[in-house]
Amino acid sequence: MYIVAPSLLAADPMHMERDVKMLESAGAKWFHVDVMDGQFVPNFSFGYSTVSSLRKTTDRVLDVHLMIDRPLRYVEQFCKAGSDYLTVHVEADTPENIEKTLDKIAEMGVKPGISVKPNTPASAIERYLKKCALVLVMTVEPGFGGQSFMEHMMPKLKALKARLQEVNPACRLEVDGGVDMTTAQICKQSGADVFVAGSACLKAPDKKAFIEAIEA
Ligand code: DX5
Ligand code: ZN
Repeated sequence: MYIVAPSLLAADPMHMERDVKMLESAGAKWFHVDVMDGQFVPNFSFGYSTVSSLRKTTDRVLDVHLMIDRPLRYVEQFCKAGSDYLTVHVEADTPENIEKTLDKIAEMGVKPGISVKPNTPASAIERYLKKCALVLVMTVEPGFGGQSFMEHMMPKLKALKARLQEVNPACRLEVDGGVDMTTAQICKQSGADVFVAGSACLKAPDKKAFIEAIEA
C-alpha cells in the first residue's frame, strides 16, 4: 500500500492544528515530523513537545525523522512523546551506537527506522536492515524543505528495495525531499512505498487529489 506522509515542516507553525485537521480531511494517514538540532543539519525544527501535542491532536501515524547527532541520548523521550515510527540517521553516530539506538526504539514498542543522506551508500545500512521497520532514502540534503529532487538517488533506492525483498520484505521504503506528483511516480518505479511531501503537498490546491494521485 502506498502512503503519502505530509511533512509538517511545510505547515504554518501558528496554525499547526488547523493544518493537521485539514490534511486529515484530505485523507492523510501519516504525518512526517522533522526534528533538527542545528548540529547534524544547519537548521532547527520540532522537538518533544511538538510530537506530544500532535499525539493529542491526531490518531494518524506519526513518522518522526530525527536529524540530530548521537540520537541515542534522546530516543527514549521521542518514543514516550508518542512517535509511531522513529527514524535516525546512520551518519549520526558510530555503528555500535546506531545498533543500540535502533534496539532501544524497538524496546520502547516503537517502529525503528534508518535513514541515509544523499552521499551515503546503501551498503552503510546493510547491517541494520533486518531490525528496521522503515528505511528512509533522502532525495535532498537534509535540513530544509523546498529543495529540488535528486533523481540520481534512484539506483540506491532500487538497490535497497532489492535487499529488503531478500531480508525484510515487510519493511517500509520511504523517500523524503522534493517529492511531488511527478517525482513520486519515479520513486514508485524504483520501489518506494512511503512518500514524504512537504511543500508540494501543502501548496497543492487540492490536497485530497494530491494524496490520492500518489497513493493510487
Ligand atoms: C528535509 C526534511 C523533509 C522536508 C521535505 O530535511 O527531512 O521532510 O520537510 O520537504 P519538501 O517536500 O518540501 O522537499
Ligand atoms: Zn524528513
